[in-house]
Amino acid sequence: MLMQFCFKNVHSFLAALLRWIYMLVSGTQVQQTPVGHISRLKTRTKEQKEGSSTQLTTPSSVNYHFTRQCNYKCGFCFHTAKTSFVLPIEEAKRGLRLLKEAGMEKVNFSGGEPFLHERGNFLGELVRYCKQELQLPSVSIVSNGSLITENWFQKYGDYLDILAVSCDSFNEDTNKVIGRGQGRKSHLDKLHQVHNWCRDYKVAFKINSVINTFNVDEDMTEQITALNPVRWKVFQCLIIEGENAGENSLREAEKFVISDQQFQDFLDRHQSVKCLVPESNQKMRDSYLILDEYVSGFIFSSQHPLSFLLITMLKFFFIFNNVVISV
Ligand SMILES: C[S@@+](CC[C@H](N)C(=O)[O-])C[C@H]1O[C@@H](n2cnc3c(N)ncnc32)[C@H](O)[C@@H]1O
Ligand code: SF4
Repeated sequence: MLMQFCFKNVHSFLAALLRWIYMLVSGTQVQQTPVGHISRLKTRTKEQKEGSSTQLTTPSSVNYHFTRQCNYKCGFCFHTAKTSFVLPIEEAKRGLRLLKEAGMEKVNFSGGEPFLHERGNFLGELVRYCKQELQLPSVSIVSNGSLITENWFQKYGDYLDILAVSCDSFNEDTNKVIGRGQGRKSHLDKLHQVHNWCRDYKVAFKINSVINTFNVDEDMTEQITALNPVRWKVFQCLIIEGENAGENSLREAEKFVISDQQFQDFLDRHQSVKCLVPESNQKMRDSYLILDEYVSGFIFSSQHPLSFLLITMLKFFFIFNNVVISV
């Protein structure tokens, strides 16, 4: 009893401290990741929320990469299957509850492929928990789409706000060259099937595309316009040392890299697509702070001097709670 009481109070203390540090780290975005992954922690200033000049910041958005395992082999992937660890579901829920107490409003589940573990039931249970029990305003998923079934939508669709499916090309051969595919299954057929399920089960549909050497000259305007996603996020292929480049990496993504000018040309070609949201390498580097799954080092670094303190606190906070943070 005494132990439980102490733990509870240390939790509350750390939650308060975490919140306080967030207030100091005004405007910083934090991405933590994988094994267990509480991954991107975006902050939103009170000014943004209320239009005032107050500079208070609360953590608002978390990317939780709970698995690194995947059924695809995209050659540029920056979140590779370096471990097979997945937190037990009760631990994952406990971490999510703590984040909610620290101010989280939005959660996004990613990976690896989030539908792979326990055939999507682990993911479904977390989605249900975040919407029904934590009552988060926004619960979303980023997936390659391949393992999604209608049955999943029937069971968990009510609890999901947004589903983003990754698609880098509307040419099936290009998808194959990239590695976005499994066997002879068509990635594009699946994309359309999931799009239809999102419509039927009233889940907002988004698309993510990574622009790289193999699709940089493509014009996707017609297909994206026809699919009409609520948002089309367009990433410039990013290199992360140790993940998709360098020693001990599981991918060698250098051959996928495009220049800033090539990325800009792609954006210019698609300027008529109003839902397009670009994420250049620069934007990603400035926005995220990423820890590896053992919270042992930075992959990117935030420019804010207090970030180190923030991450140290997060590390302590989650290790104390048996939750491993990583990217
Ligand atoms: C790591 S994946 C995990 C979720 C899921 N497996 C998928 O592919 O959508 C999350 C997002 O990161 C994108 N991504 C992966 N490698 C990238 C890279 N090197 N540069 C930019 N984005 C990348 C993917 O396309 C996807 O939209
Ligand atoms: S980007 Fe490709 S390889 Fe990486 S996790 Fe997503 S589907 Fe898997």
